[in-house]
Amino acid sequence: MQIFHHQVQLRDFIKKCQQNGQSIGLVPTMGALHQGHLALINASKALADVTVASVFVNPLQFNNQTDFQKYPQVLDQDIQLLSSTGCDVVFAPLVSEIYPQATTLKFDFGQLETVMEGKFRPGHFNGVGIIVSKLFNLIRPNWAFFGQKDLQQCAVIKCLANDLSYPIEIKIIETLRESDGLAMSSRNRRLSNLGRSIAPEIFASLQLALSICHEPVEVIKLAIAEYYKSRNYFNLEYFEVCDPETLYIHKLGKLDKTSAFCIAVHLEDVRLIDNVIVPVAN
Ligand code: PAF
Repeated sequence: MQIFHHQVQLRDFIKKCQQNGQSIGLVPTMGALHQGHLALINASKALADVTVASVFVNPLQFNNQTDFQKYPQVLDQDIQLLSSTGCDVVFAPLVSEIYPQATTLKFDFGQLETVMEGKFRPGHFNGVGIIVSKLFNLIRPNWAFFGQKDLQQCAVIKCLANDLSYPIEIKIIETLRESDGLAMSSRNRRLSNLGRSIAPEIFASLQLALSICHEPVEVIKLAIAEYYKSRNYFNLEYFEVCDPETLYIHKLGKLDKTSAFCIAVHLEDVRLIDNVIVPVAN
């Protein structure tokens, strides 16, 4: 596995791949890798001749400096994991390599970023848009792989690829869960043992919502509010019912098409998100 810290090395490598007619799969990450990331690597390996993983904690997508500083950074472990999964290239740049000067370009993803993550993390999707488009321009992959756990990010990136005519197929890979249902996330490692033992209640709340998905949305939302009221160790930031592609938020009435239940909670001082797709017949 080759490891590059500089754009110029990466560009040379990509140029050679293109000259050899090799297809490229990109797995963008912020490191602290887990099996969920490795599933993205495996999905890329199944399609692409060459798989490139980026490991970069992007300061631009953190609206909260403490969250940025506490984001786990374990590059040596990440490199070992990527190598054992058969990843071909790791791109792990320093912040100064990616942002030698402040960026001025601003993305506006419209309705896609006025709700949920976009509402509670102002500027987050601008930061995601900037780094993902930089990676797309540098690596020019045929495919780019993202996890469904970040459902809103997936919608934003599809919009980015579409609006800027990137010739890249965006592949969304199902959320991987621990055996107790907790969605795999780099942030899980910041939980205490107690926090970790409680965290599966987030997925349990989504299961509860699924079990009553034929009820009107307002009834489902009330049930979730009650669920978290009796579990005051969680701070529920939002629970929304939305269209998984347009992110249109359903507020009232019964669901008549495929939707998603999306949630963000704080546990200890860790912010966790999750979602499930609600397969409602048309
Ligand atoms: O999903 C993530 O880990 C990040 O938002 C991404 C796509 C790597 C951009 O920094």
